[in-house]
Amino acid sequence: MTTASIGLIGLGTMGAMLALNIAEKGFPIAVWNRTTAVTHAFKAEAGALAAMITPTETLADLVAAIKPPRAIILMVPAGQAVDDQIAALRPLLAADDLIIDAGNALFHDTNRRSADAVQGPRFMGIGVSGGEEGARHGPAIMGGGLRSDWDRVAPVLNAIAAKYKGQPCADYMGPAGAGHFVKAVHNGIEYADMQMIAEVYGVMRDGLGMTAPQIAETFASWNQGPLQSYLIEISAQVSAATDTHSGKPMLDMIVDRAGQKGTGRWTVIEAQHLAATIPAIEAAVMARNLSSRLEERLAGEALFGAAPKPDVALTLAQLEQAMIAGKILCYAQGFTLISAAATAFNWPMPLPEIARVWREGCIIRSSMLNDMATALTEDPSRNLMLAPFFADHLKTSHPALRQVIAAAALHGLPVPALASGLAWFDMMRTGRSTANMIQAQRDFFGAHGFERVDGLTDKHGPWAGHGI
Ligand code: 6PG
Repeated sequence: MTTASIGLIGLGTMGAMLALNIAEKGFPIAVWNRTTAVTHAFKAEAGALAAMITPTETLADLVAAIKPPRAIILMVPAGQAVDDQIAALRPLLAADDLIIDAGNALFHDTNRRSADAVQGPRFMGIGVSGGEEGARHGPAIMGGGLRSDWDRVAPVLNAIAAKYKGQPCADYMGPAGAGHFVKAVHNGIEYADMQMIAEVYGVMRDGLGMTAPQIAETFASWNQGPLQSYLIEISAQVSAATDTHSGKPMLDMIVDRAGQKGTGRWTVIEAQHLAATIPAIEAAVMARNLSSRLEERLAGEALFGAAPKPDVALTLAQLEQAMIAGKILCYAQGFTLISAAATAFNWPMPLPEIARVWREGCIIRSSMLNDMATALTEDPSRNLMLAPFFADHLKTSHPALRQVIAAAALHGLPVPALASGLAWFDMMRTGRSTANMIQAQRDFFGAHGFERVDGLTDKHGPWAGHGI
């Protein structure tokens, strides 16, 4: 029976939530999972939504259950599983059917799959953010592929997306892998924002001697101000939670080794390819990598000693201001990476719309994103730190960022993302940098030449011939 308006493959947590969301918005959906028992259990547990769901046992049944031209969402693990699924579907689909990869794919893979789809069936890659809750009740959606394909499925995607004041947090980002690229940058910002929060938490815990419940209160109060965001909100909640086994703060019972699926790393690798400067995001990925080296860290602590007992002279107001500055800088870096990609790949990526899509549903949603959307609408090509609204914020907050980093450094508390953010800010406001020294060194040892400040055409220094 061809009754479904859309299909979905992969009923893991995210796939199942997305399918329920689609059904709830009134779109009959056909679903298929590698393990048939999972498919039937999914329908059985769908309650009132079960009537909207067609479980299928074979891919042929799935295809037959969807009204042509078909759209089928893939929610399978990124990588080979996506290629395998496309290969299995292809012979069953017509040229104008559309496969939509909604997983966290590497955008280069999405570029390749889009190129392979020219003869049909069609292919799109969409970035979906918001975790389990978002998938079920409204994620942020970043679409990539052909505009005409996006337009075809936009009614479903807009319906299931989170809403910001009634506006869907879903939009078309550009061709081929553009949607997955924007999702990767989202995740890079996610890593940096999380790391900065963790650093400020560390200063409170180890520098100020605050308990987890006190830290929870601080985050909760920050969430009422300019830092209002999902990540600050959940940081308050996790800091407030008590472990049911030990009765201690839950946070204190969690091993300090951070996991990662790799999207932050992809973002950093791509930034290097594009010569885009995202040091706060790089520092955050480094910090996750280093966190896993627990034995080495313990050996380091045994040899050099841990940071002294709490006696840092900082106020919570200074920490809040430092976090505001750090947050602006890490988002600004993310947007510079998107700009670099837009130029390098000739993708006309809509920067203000990206900020708008991120206002609700996604992990990095924050009240600042609305102001970022406004600033990027005024001038999409301007670095966000130069936009008057954020420049004013930074003028107020960067002195505190400096004080926090200085105090942390003197005390031996690591704040790599905050410090990288500040270094970027200071480099970005230095008209006369120190790269003249680099140029002189390059010319000395390799006769690489330089430009002169006075416009004379001599390209080499008086050390010519001294090089190796
Ligand atoms: C989102 C998240 C999500 C991501 C997880 C885990 O936007 O919903 O970015 O897509 O996969 O947060 O990521 P890590 O395992 O790399 O921390």
